[in-house]
Amino acid sequence: GLSGSGKSTIANVVEQKLHKKGIKTFVLDGDNIRKRINKDLTFAPEDRTENIRRIAELANLMVEAGLVTLAAFVSPYKKDRENIRSIVKDVNFIEIFVNTSVDECERRDVKGLYKKARAGEIKNMTGISAPYELPLNPDVEIKTEKISVEAAAKLIMDYIEPKLSILKWA
Ligand code: ADX
Repeated sequence: GLSGSGKSTIANVVEQKLHKKGIKTFVLDGDNIRKRINKDLTFAPEDRTENIRRIAELANLMVEAGLVTLAAFVSPYKKDRENIRSIVKDVNFIEIFVNTSVDECERRDVKGLYKKARAGEIKNMTGISAPYELPLNPDVEIKTEKISVEAAAKLIMDYIEPKLSILKWA
């Protein structure tokens, strides 16, 4: 989903629900990864591709370590999302589209980025001056203008719960 669509907020609530079940998790998001391991990357198309590729490789290692990895990234290109599926392997991957309209993200403007993009202070802003290729067949789609954060987290839990039995060896 777009910047400000609610990805990290929802991921954090899913994380709490998983912890209550004794499942170990890790949340990766644009804010922590882009300041650290991917701080050499910009928002140009080829750097976004590399950003997502590295995240998929990191997430793959975390999954191998037995963590449910919640990766909250914009990931605007369809080919990059398909590449994640091949890196982490189909069975381990759930594509979630946090579908909030650009109008609503701009209205919320949590980080003030849309205002800056409109003013020309930020280039390549997804949804404004850079493309967002809509996920056509996501595993879960969340319309945040229609349902609450809690209901969104519940939808995701319902989808992933059948896949969790493999993690319960204690
Ligand atoms: S991605 O497109 O390369 O997958 P990523 O999820 O890592 O993006 O980073 C998106 C986050 O970076 C946004 O939530 C926002 O806070 C910030 N950001 C800064 N500049 C931009 C921009 N030009 N386009 C989108 N997000 C941006």
